[in-house]
Amino acid sequence: MIKKIAVIGAGYVGSSLGILLAQHYEVALIDKDLSKVNKLNNGQAILDESLMQDFLNEKEQNLVASDSLQECLDSQLVILSLPTNYDAESNYFDTSILESVLHELNDLAFRGVVVIKSTVPIGFTFRMQELYPSLSILFIPEFLREGQALMDNLNPSRIVVGDKSDNAHAVAEVFMSIVENTPPILFMNSNEAEAVKLFANTYLATRVSFFNELDSYALEHGLSTKDIIDGVSMDPRIGAGYNNPSFGYGGYCLPKDTKQLLANFENIPQGILKSVIESNALRKDFIAQKILSFNPKIIGIHRLVMKKGSDNFRESATFDVMQILKKLGKTLMVFEPLLSENHAEFQVTHDLNYFKATSDIILANRMDEELMDVQTKVFSRDIYGEN
Ligand SMILES: NC(=O)c1ccc[n+]([C@@H]2O[C@H](COP(=O)([O-])OP(=O)(O)OC[C@H]3O[C@@H](n4cnc5c(N)ncnc54)[C@H](O)[C@@H]3O)[C@@H](O)[C@H]2O)c1
Repeated sequence: MIKKIAVIGAGYVGSSLGILLAQHYEVALIDKDLSKVNKLNNGQAILDESLMQDFLNEKEQNLVASDSLQECLDSQLVILSLPTNYDAESNYFDTSILESVLHELNDLAFRGVVVIKSTVPIGFTFRMQELYPSLSILFIPEFLREGQALMDNLNPSRIVVGDKSDNAHAVAEVFMSIVENTPPILFMNSNEAEAVKLFANTYLATRVSFFNELDSYALEHGLSTKDIIDGVSMDPRIGAGYNNPSFGYGGYCLPKDTKQLLANFENIPQGILKSVIESNALRKDFIAQKILSFNPKIIGIHRLVMKKGSDNFRESATFDVMQILKKLGKTLMVFEPLLSENHAEFQVTHDLNYFKATSDIILANRMDEELMDVQTKVFSRDIYGEN
């Protein structure tokens, strides 16, 4: 019987899950970052999502945040939502944080169920289960989108459980207890569930790249990207979602997940994966070259975040375009309230009017209301005004 749940890693995945689970279970949200722990214990949202603050203000919470792993020892279920960054040297995810926490849980003689929510290389959960036979380790992929983490956890499209045991069914019930919709539940083995996550994100990256290449073609030939995408997307087999051009795919997950899947292929013949990664790099070069063709003296960069409403710019495509332009010796000015005005490498301003007046051209991955009065200066490929 699951009564207490510990969630380790209070980031996008962990904090949204923890807050929802705390409506139904006793929850310990554990993070090594004390500022997050203190915020949570003071009822403050960690993510810049109004729904999360509303939940904290309005709903009864049975939640304690802590920086100590000891806090999870009397839990029946531990959920790991820890970082798995891509390591460019090994060409693989760096799973060392997950591995060390699993090691510690084993040393502390934790004997409940452990769910890995972090995105991991295919085969990771199986390998960990062999290494720690006293733990029951399951993998359940997370599909949330940044900016709507809580909403996506309340309304998941599906719940994929990487195991078929009784534990897996008990854990599936826990996840079903927090949802507002009735998502299908799929039980499969851990390798398959890990593959679902990496293939799903790689499909999304492929789709972004496809529409970006369509846009590069249209731009080069003076054609209307919108007319072409509308015409293409009205085929129900293709569909109209997720087809808004951008400077490239970015964010925490798509860049690293595509590379990890490519690494997992090893010697299996493939062509799409490599091309998608290459296509994304080509797109950023193409955008930079387009900017240069306007001969601007001062290039303004409006926001480094990937999406409207985002509170971080991990793996930002705009940032990469900016790096290309900087290497070419161009003068840049960045408007990004999340960056300090004393930035060591870039000229950053928080003064929007000064930014708009001084920039000869303004790069905006996503168009913003606040740029409407200088529309003629803006270079954006945001056709549909969507993220
Ligand atoms: N962000 C997303 O949109 C998203 C979506 C699906 C899956 N994922 C996957 O979920 C995992 C977590 O992603 P995230 O975006 O929530 O990461 P995040 O960086 O927002 O949060 C990770 C948290 O773990 C904490 N942490 C790091 N080491 C720790 C340790 N030893 N002990 C305790 N806490 C520790 C950090 O302080 C941080 O708060 C990743 O594998 C990611 O690929 C993320």
